[in-house]
Amino acid sequence: MEVMSAAVAVAVAVTVAVYGWRFLKWVWLLPKAMEKSLRGLGWFTSDRIYHSHYPIKSCHVYNQYSITSDRNVGGVESLVMGFQCTSYNAQCSNIFFTWMGPKPMVHVTKPQLIRQILADYNKFQKPKYGNPLASLLGKGLVDANGDQWAKHRKIINPAFYVEKLKHMLPAFYISCSEMINKWEGITKGGSVEVDVYPHLQTMTSDVISRTAFGSSYEEGRKIFELQHELAKLVVKDMQSIYIPGSRTVKKIINKRLKETTDSTKEDLLGLLLDSNNKEIKQKGNNKFGLSIDEVIEECKVFYFGGQETTVNLLTWTMISLCQHTNWQDRARAEVLEMFGDRKPDIDGLNRLKTINMILHEVLRFYPPGVGMPRMIHEETKVGNLTLPSGSPLILHLMLLHYNAEIWGDDVNEFNPERFAEVVSNATKKQASFFPFGGGPCICIGQNFTMLETKLALVMILRRFSFKLSPSYSHAPHVILAMQPPFGAQLILTFSCFCKCTCVISVGFP
Ligand code: HEM
Repeated sequence: MEVMSAAVAVAVAVTVAVYGWRFLKWVWLLPKAMEKSLRGLGWFTSDRIYHSHYPIKSCHVYNQYSITSDRNVGGVESLVMGFQCTSYNAQCSNIFFTWMGPKPMVHVTKPQLIRQILADYNKFQKPKYGNPLASLLGKGLVDANGDQWAKHRKIINPAFYVEKLKHMLPAFYISCSEMINKWEGITKGGSVEVDVYPHLQTMTSDVISRTAFGSSYEEGRKIFELQHELAKLVVKDMQSIYIPGSRTVKKIINKRLKETTDSTKEDLLGLLLDSNNKEIKQKGNNKFGLSIDEVIEECKVFYFGGQETTVNLLTWTMISLCQHTNWQDRARAEVLEMFGDRKPDIDGLNRLKTINMILHEVLRFYPPGVGMPRMIHEETKVGNLTLPSGSPLILHLMLLHYNAEIWGDDVNEFNPERFAEVVSNATKKQASFFPFGGGPCICIGQNFTMLETKLALVMILRRFSFKLSPSYSHAPHVILAMQPPFGAQLILTFSCFCKCTCVISVGFP
């Protein structure tokens, strides 16, 4: 008995010692070593501050929003990322560090370094999320690394080729038409305040359900609604583990695997399965393709990649066009000249120069993703700096987009004119505009999102003029993407600018 007790006591003591040592290493020894190494590079940080990824205004005031009374102000970056801005200004450096829990987080704002890091996806990998719930939102291409990433990207790429997007235009059109119909019903031919944010959310969710699942979109939409709820829980860090919809997605995929008609190949799921089959056939082995579970994860990623980002691009564009009505007028004039009351086609959408400039400026001002995380696994040189292993990095798109040395003194002004020529002319030839990331992992859905957003804008501008409602609060804030947390209350006025009969048909030629 005594021997037993002694053995238990020894086992407990060893366990406590092992875990205690690990804890000490994690919380003190490794951070100290990294700190020493970073300070050796001449960097400093004044405070040891513990902050979550994107604190608002200051790490000390979690969950408070910074609202500006001036709806036309620039300097959005200090509203959204006050803490990082403060550190950035305090350290006056293109590369600086702050503390994330016990780890130093290295912040990079220098364009050449960001380009270099984005180009080398093997050394600078996407981190696995600390919050295990976050991975429930989708574990596909967005967080794959190395060979796994290369395999997924190769198979998924064909689904996003420009010529494939042509076939998705009717789905975009149907979803936009439904929203416009609703707005016509609400405005009843006059003016009314509408929070357009939830409407745009429904529309962009609908687009991704239709384009991902084609005829099975109703079932797909239900899953996405659950995903949306899950995202809210993840953001709140709640501990409920629930994987919504996986069985239903599996059913849709299994059904699809048995179908071979051409029409099923034109949605994202069909294109993905098609490309997967080709890869397996070509290489003669299933291991070169994606499993059903991997296809499910990619569908989830399409939803988050496709919906959370696009809805915010569209919303900030509408808000910006309210703040700068001259640009609203110019955009509408271009739309009417290009299409009149014709249904928009892909060639016309690609030739909308003013709208393209506006969207670029909105992406500069309000990039849906303000920074890209990376992780270093071994001591790595970046420029002439040697970064220690284990350093988490943030590549700051937003701070780059607000750098007056790159963009000029009018950096805080909304001025789409800066994008009138090629993008590099707007940035003194330094590649500094990365709303869709860069290098091999550049956003796979950028053409998809630009096409969808342009089509939606064409349809909105032809039927409505809009201005900010007095109840709108300007408080850009990052949750999963940068969004207006209190909604986007606009006064919509129905005005049939295209002088058509205003009977919306959902058919498409
Ligand atoms: C305004 C809209 C969008 C913005 C601003 C945006 C932004 C980005 C950015 C910055 C990245 C790079 C992330 C990194 O390297 O860490 C990225 C990657 C990605 N995006 Fe988007 N995105 C948008 C729309 C979409 C859409 C519509 C889809 C799909 C339907 C999509 C799917 C993806 C995927 C799968 C990746 C990972 C690519 C890879 O690692 O190879 N995105 N996006």
